[in-house]
Amino acid sequence: MSVLIGNIGELTTNDGERGRLHEAALVLDGPRIAWVGPSAQAPAADEFVDAEGRAVLPGWVDAHTHLVFAGDRTSEFEARMAGQAYAAGGINATVQATRAASDEVLGANLARLVAEARRGGTTTIETKTGYGLTTEHEVRSARIAAEHADIVTFLGAHVVPAGEDPARYLDLVTGPMLDAVAPLVGGVDVFCETGAFGEADAARILRAAAAHGLPTRVHGNQLGHGPGVRLAVEYGALSVDHLGFLTDGDIEALAGSWAGWDAGAGPRGTVATVLPACDLSTRMPLAPARRLADAGVVLAIASNCNPGTSFTTSMGFCVATAVLQMGLTVQEAVRAATLGGAITLGAHTDGWMDARGARQPRVGVVSVGARADLQILRAPSVTHLAYRPGVPLTDAVWRAGIRIV
Ligand code: NIG
Repeated sequence: MSVLIGNIGELTTNDGERGRLHEAALVLDGPRIAWVGPSAQAPAADEFVDAEGRAVLPGWVDAHTHLVFAGDRTSEFEARMAGQAYAAGGINATVQATRAASDEVLGANLARLVAEARRGGTTTIETKTGYGLTTEHEVRSARIAAEHADIVTFLGAHVVPAGEDPARYLDLVTGPMLDAVAPLVGGVDVFCETGAFGEADAARILRAAAAHGLPTRVHGNQLGHGPGVRLAVEYGALSVDHLGFLTDGDIEALAGSWAGWDAGAGPRGTVATVLPACDLSTRMPLAPARRLADAGVVLAIASNCNPGTSFTTSMGFCVATAVLQMGLTVQEAVRAATLGGAITLGAHTDGWMDARGARQPRVGVVSVGARADLQILRAPSVTHLAYRPGVPLTDAVWRAGIRIV
């Protein structure tokens, strides 16, 4: 069954030279995009959707969330808004609540948040384990996550759980726990920060992941300056996320990791994934997205939805904040929240494997052959995402060719 979406006022493609089109149309055929071009030349299709001059863009690719959890941390948030600093220790409160919850509660909570994200235009979503922190609970989290998310990342190295000996926990997380979770996940993450894992421990976790053939990510430079970015680049991590505290050397290292990539000649670098809602919600410095972009670093924007530091699924809010407060242009922010997220996840090329083991077409772009993941805004241009901040502008969403909103 094919669908022609015509009369598109502004079409963001993220597709090389094509960029943004006006008076455009596209055809979906099954799960993929079959045609893109001027409205006047659109071929016939089984069904016609009139975009009525509005903006169409790829679905959001949210490359950083922590959605397998139970419990509530409203009072921690209130304390923070009253002046208390965020510390990694709050994670243990969610660990306790998560361990005590049934599979059904965790699954229902996750499904509700994924549905909320989809209503806001998110069509690809990564989520992490990291609130189980025993082998049994991390395996359970990974299994539940894979039922709902597109990509699952193992974050056993979130913090050392309360009452555990750090050296023993490191042996576990790089040994039996990783062995048990590895078949269920698409990557490994480590929180490299004061109060979580230091440089040597984080490096050991990254090496253990590589020994399992798993790609890596790093939570780094969130609470202060530190080795996160340096390690991520050195170990070839797919991304390093947070980045509120960067030195010039960190930015240079990230930029250097992308040298030659645009020409398609070099290996890919480490994406800088900025998390604007988290920076606001923890009252931490905003990641220097403008400087990173100017240095040539590939950027992603993600929600970091989690109960502690960023309890939002709204990628529209993150894009607006990245424009209004981080100094990105609307086009840069939209690209970072779509194609940038896809590059972070390795989902920008055909054949990436989702959490259920199915091969998928590329996402984050509107081009022939890409997965038909699209959103129509209730607005003539993506500029309205920042011009009308806080307004839910996503009006219709297709995921793999199926209309879900
Ligand atoms: O990305 N930084 C570490 N992990 C989460 C916070 C999780 C929590 O506080 O529960 C984050 O912000």
